[in-house]
Order: sequence, then C-alpha cells, then structure tokens
Amino acid sequence: MPHVKDGWDVVTLREGGTPLLPAQHLSALTGCEVHLKIEGANPTGSFKDRGMTVAMTEAAAGGAKAVICASTGNTSASAAAYAARTDMTCAVLVPQGKIALGKLAQATAHGARILQLEGNFDACLELARKAAEEHPIALVNSVNPARIEGQKTASFEICDQLGRAPDLHVLPVGNAGNITAYWRGYVEYHRDGVVESTPEMHGVQAAGAAPLVDGAPVSHPETLATAIRIGSPASWDGAVAARDESGGRITKVDDDAILAAYRLLAAREGVFVEPASAASVAGLLARSTAGELTAGQVVVCTVTGHGLKDPGTALADVPEPVVVPERVDAVADALGLG
Ligand code: F0G
Repeated sequence: MPHVKDGWDVVTLREGGTPLLPAQHLSALTGCEVHLKIEGANPTGSFKDRGMTVAMTEAAAGGAKAVICASTGNTSASAAAYAARTDMTCAVLVPQGKIALGKLAQATAHGARILQLEGNFDACLELARKAAEEHPIALVNSVNPARIEGQKTASFEICDQLGRAPDLHVLPVGNAGNITAYWRGYVEYHRDGVVESTPEMHGVQAAGAAPLVDGAPVSHPETLATAIRIGSPASWDGAVAARDESGGRITKVDDDAILAAYRLLAAREGVFVEPASAASVAGLLARSTAGELTAGQVVVCTVTGHGLKDPGTALADVPEPVVVPERVDAVADALGLG
C-alpha cells in the first residue's frame, strides 16, 4: 500500500539527497573502502526528516489537526518543523534534562508544545501511544509505518551513489526504526533487480543502553549519546530480522569509544556529528581492531545527526578559547609565530 496517494499535498522540506562521502582516514585505518552517509545534511539536521515527510503528509491528508511524538530530541525537532509547514499543532514528550540543547532549541523555535517527563524515552513513548489512541492526535514515532517507508530511501540513495550495494552497512541503533528501514530498502532494491546483493547489517548500541545486545530490555538506560538512550526499542523484531536475514550483528560500544570516534570524525574527516552518530564508526573501529573486517570491503557508516545538535558535548572538557589583544603581534605570539 502506498503511503502517499495521488492528489495529496506533500509536506516536504526537500529532505534526502544527502552526501555519501569517502572517508579517507577511516579507510586507511581499516583497510576497507569506507563511506559516510551524512544524514546531518537533512533540513532539520538528522535522518528523521526522511520519515517525517511521509508521516506528516499522511496525517495531513487524513485530516489530523495535531501530531504527537516521544523523542530523545531529533524526532521532536523534525516533527515540529514539518508540523509548522502544515499549520498543525505538534506535541512532543521528552525525557527531562536528557535532550541535547540544539534539539530543544529547534522544537521550541518551530512552536512545538514541549512536555518534559521525569521518565526516560521508553516511558514517553508509552504515554504518546496512549494519548494517540484515546485522542484525535496522529502518532509520528517510527512505530508509524509511514516513517519506516520514508527512511528506507537512504538505502536506495546509497546504492545509487555507489552504483552497487555496500558489503557492510554500520549504523547506530536506539529505538531500532532506522535499521529496520534500511534493511527494507536494501531488500526491496535487490528484489526489484536494481542491485545484485544486499549488505551485512551491523547495528551499534551504546553499552549502557544495549537491550538488543544483552537480550533483554534495560530499565535504566544511560549513555552520553542521549539520542540512543533507549532501553526498550519499539522495533526490536525489525532489528533482529535485519541482523539475522543479512547475516549481520548488533554490538555495543562504551561512551569512551563513542567520544573517540566523535573526535576522530571531526578532527580527521572534517565531519561534525552528534555522539550517537559516532557510535556507528566506533562499532566499525572495534571490529577492525578485532580483525573482523575483510580488506577492500565496501563499507557505509550512517552518521545520523549533525554535531551542532549537541554543543554541550563539543564544548565539554576543552580549554576556553584564548583571548588576545587586537594586535597582529599578539595573534602571531598566540600562534607561536612570534
Ligand atoms: N542517531 C540519532 C542521531 C538519533 O536521533 C536516533 C534516534 C538514532 C540514531 C537511532 O535511531 O531509534 O531508529 O534506532 N532518535 C530518536 C528520537 C529516538 O527521538 O529522535 P533508531
């Protein structure tokens, strides 16, 4: 069933079409041909826009006057922006104090009704689902099938950009909608004869929030990668199917490894991402260290959100910028050129 029908007004910010960037440093480190799918280049700075255009188009066509979502931040920023274009009310439920500042700024700027909960994301999602069941509000979390349909387009793009499917696809996993969507995209492109193979899917969770790796929900998930601070993924079955059908794996990386990958991406590849996005690269590097990659493999890592989303992490534990008087010799001195 198509999710967008002829004659519907499409609610769009011209999402998608993001760069697939060759990663020279990561390729040299791993011996693979590594590419980064830069999803922070979407209109609101994360991959969520790919699904939100479909979910919001469907909601508007169905006459919805309001949408609701639970979010660790990016879904709320995206929902708020698309709702603004359709004159819809947008309500977001977020875990108090656990949303990166940029995301909160976005949802606020777009006029969302932001409700902070003492509970974590999992509690927010439960409440959002109940509210949508009992009231005329459309739920735009990835449990809404329209979201997955939109997000699978990233796989189509990657195949188009590479001229083939990658051998290995690595991406961060939180609520597990995205790994479900990517796998669906690859399977459909293969089924339709566009590509000759499908990649091995490798999902990466944060060690303190790794229910899929540990095999059971985590009641108090904790990680500095707040976007994936989720203990009970809604698309659990989708993630397991993507892993098993692709012959892949789901692994976990600790916060230090996430931060190391975050810094490496910024300092060596020129790509500023938010911490959750760096989990994919941390997972790839751990696998490389363990000798579990094949030389020359074509690898795609999705980096899911822009670094500006989370200025707090970027500025933590770094020295204050140097203050200099307005003189060339002072600038030269400060740069060691004096
Ligand atoms: N990376 C980023 C930057 C995210 O915001 C998310 C999820 C993920 C990865 C994980 O994707 O949930 O499909 O497995 N963010 C959601 C949100 C939960 O509310 O913004 P997933």
